[in-house]
Amino acid sequence: MSRQEGSMDVLDLAQSMKAKSMEMPEQLKEKPIHEYLIKNSTPERGCLFLHNLVQDIRPRHCIEIGTCLGFSTLFIIDALNKNGFGDLVTIEKNVESSALAQHLLSIVDMSRVQFKVGTSHEVLPEILEDWDEVDFCYIDGEHKKETVLFEFGVLYPKLYKDGIIVMNDVIGYNGVIGYNDGEMREAWAEIKLKEGVMWSEHERFGIIKKRFSIHASRSHVPLEGKKK
Ligand SMILES: C[S@@+](CC[C@H](N)C(=O)[O-])C[C@H]1O[C@@H](n2cnc3c(N)ncnc32)[C@H](O)[C@@H]1O
Repeated sequence: MSRQEGSMDVLDLAQSMKAKSMEMPEQLKEKPIHEYLIKNSTPERGCLFLHNLVQDIRPRHCIEIGTCLGFSTLFIIDALNKNGFGDLVTIEKNVESSALAQHLLSIVDMSRVQFKVGTSHEVLPEILEDWDEVDFCYIDGEHKKETVLFEFGVLYPKLYKDGIIVMNDVIGYNGVIGYNDGEMREAWAEIKLKEGVMWSEHERFGIIKKRFSIHASRSHVPLEGKKK
């Protein structure tokens, strides 16, 4: 892939992470770690998109659902480290995956990230209780309609006016149906119809922003309503 401006170092970090995974003797779900990392992570191009988005929107509070081995997490952390502020909570239901991710991510400064083990149902409400707003979310956990609708349902009300939610795998890769693609597409179709949702699609991502004008106070007089 061609390198974009500002992306050099994060792609080098991604290479270091992959090299580290090659040196690990452990298996995860009967697969060597490096093979599991390649097969189950967001492709590099998508991760670079997340990285550049986080650098651009400069979020304070970020949430990732589905740490897995931490590949997408690496790109988010690196962007936050470059911004010089902001924090990330990354949620993973599998304790072994979360521990392996923390080991693989030891190549970067992890002071801005907190790893939570549990399902999104178990931990997301408790995290959000402490935050007034959330600025950036990456939803990439269980690819089930009921789960992603729950995750969207608790995150969206707390989304800051300039915040963004990215949902992975709402569109089949090259039109190929796979990995509960049907459930993801159904959930995505419902989300797109919800009041106030502005959405876009990029590669396999569904991108959501809150349409602020309809949530904001309507105390102003619209121009067309003003008497001359
Ligand atoms: C596709 S992988 C995530 C890949 C990762 N975001 C990346 O790009 O490197 C999905 C992960 O979500 C975890 N997961 C599945 N259901 C979950 C749930 N309900 N809550 C939190 N994590 C979940 C799985 O164990 C798996 O590690």
